[in-house]
Amino acid sequence: MCGIFGYVGVPRDTGEMVLDALRKLEYRGYDSWGVGVGVNGHIAVEKNIGKIGSSVLDLPLSSIGFGHTRWATHGGVTQANAHPHVDPSGRVAVIHNGIIENFRSLRAQIEAGGRALVSETDTEVVVHLVAAQLAGTCDPQRTVEIVGNVFEQLQGFNAIIVLDRATGTLTAVKNVSPLVIGRGIDGCYVASDQLALAEYATEIAFLEDRQIVQLDDDGARAFDLDTLRSLHLDWRAPTVKGYSAELSGYPDFLMKEIHEQPEVVRRVASELGGEAQQLAGEISDSYGTFFIGCGTASYAALTGSYLFSRIARRHVNFVVGSEFSYQEHFLTDRSLVCALSQSGETIDIIQSVLTAKDRGARIGALVNVEGSTLDRMADVSLHLKAGPELSVLSTKTYTAKVALLLLTAYALDGRMKEGEDLLLQAADVMEESLHPDATDRIRGLAGRFRVSRSLFAVGRGLSFPTALEAALKIKEVSYIHAEGFAGGELKHGVIALIEEGTPCLVFAPEDETYTDIISGATELKSRGGYIVGVSSRNDPVFDVHIPLADVGNASPLTTAIPAQLLGRELAVARGLDPDKPRNLAKSVTVK
Ligand code: G6P
Repeated sequence: MCGIFGYVGVPRDTGEMVLDALRKLEYRGYDSWGVGVGVNGHIAVEKNIGKIGSSVLDLPLSSIGFGHTRWATHGGVTQANAHPHVDPSGRVAVIHNGIIENFRSLRAQIEAGGRALVSETDTEVVVHLVAAQLAGTCDPQRTVEIVGNVFEQLQGFNAIIVLDRATGTLTAVKNVSPLVIGRGIDGCYVASDQLALAEYATEIAFLEDRQIVQLDDDGARAFDLDTLRSLHLDWRAPTVKGYSAELSGYPDFLMKEIHEQPEVVRRVASELGGEAQQLAGEISDSYGTFFIGCGTASYAALTGSYLFSRIARRHVNFVVGSEFSYQEHFLTDRSLVCALSQSGETIDIIQSVLTAKDRGARIGALVNVEGSTLDRMADVSLHLKAGPELSVLSTKTYTAKVALLLLTAYALDGRMKEGEDLLLQAADVMEESLHPDATDRIRGLAGRFRVSRSLFAVGRGLSFPTALEAALKIKEVSYIHAEGFAGGELKHGVIALIEEGTPCLVFAPEDETYTDIISGATELKSRGGYIVGVSSRNDPVFDVHIPLADVGNASPLTTAIPAQLLGRELAVARGLDPDKPRNLAKSVTVK
């Protein structure tokens, strides 16, 4: 699970250019990174563990180079395991995104042939397999053939780029894991996504499975992986422009993106009505709709299933993305699988969609990144238009997904205008909840909870997914153990964990859940729980009240904000990076 980028063209400070592109790919992993350039009969490599930050390279000028930002799968976070991996002769280097599922047997085969591997990675097998066959050749076409042959031996979802110094080429091939080719004034490029190419490429082409592409200083040539016949790449204008990585006065991207949410919700209300209508039509025509997502997107999907029940009296199934492929047996060509994903690259979602397509199901998508794999696979893709989300934590794309699903539910029930008005009302309440006084109150809570061992979040009905999302936000950025529960489940085990002072976030909107959730809060308090009530009413059971005007069915949009802020403030209070928490990646492209 990693970001990869390569360049061939006019000689320049290729290393620095690659490093700069890798900074835009760090959302795919930031355990370690590495850059390699071909120069004067060898491949010069610099690798390091940790985030790229303001690192500067000491590499010579070069006309060919590539780089990698890593999220460790096989082998620890060490310099030796960072990519690129170079063969002992110094001719071939490889960078890779994915998991080579049969790497153990390939590794044994290489070792049996007397070659020693120096890393613990699955990737290094590719280096040895390619280098062994390339020895004695110096024909770019042979390089294509050999890289293609080796790639065919790899099992799993993978993308690789092979730098062959002798032929001055980069050869790239993929299975499911994305690769985008770019061409610009100075040369050709290949990357995991077009964002990394935005600054350099005037045209891009998406590499498809069963295609292999070779880049040299004459350009990019594509071939069919089976026949090696030349193919035309489908060049087009980039759909993604460069993004501004400006903080605009905010201390971090998490804070900035939390504050962008009222605007994002207003945009859904004013600009995405057509999309909501379209998705409503798909749902109406289907016989069985499934919302799927991973992480935060799964909680948006679960919220959607409650919204469709309440607003449109329509049953929509929810399945978490990584489990969907094990529950596909009931899909038919009348099913609609609607995948929610900020990045459009989460591999469990891509795998689920492939499975659903095999069953003939129709695919809907809610994505933020246009041109992403999911965006291109879907029959109907709705763009969230939330703008680039740079913090690893999903915030504004969560509320964008919930807002679009809410609007779709109203559209399905023929009450679109009501949905739009409700979103605008919710956006105003969101704005109020971001007032500096409100943030200060949450900062105060973070000061109190920063040394807590555990935190619990509870809600019922529409607030149950909110409780799950609140706990996720808090644990992923503050590293405090946090769990979300359905209020009714407290008595079935959870309450055993409550001790004197345990923080409990209680979501109590003014709906049919109010009385029961307040009873649950009272039971928590009786056992020592410290109750933070998120509600329009200040109930005596609350130790601290976070007031939020009631917005009915749109409550998941407003109640998300205090939890996001609490997570961020806890991270800051504990001296942690709010944008890049340990062990995580924004886009999870391996299983
Ligand atoms: C990772 C991120 C989460 C995100 C999830 C799904 O785990 O850290 O913030 O919710 O992936 O990502 P997606 O791009 O599919 O929405």
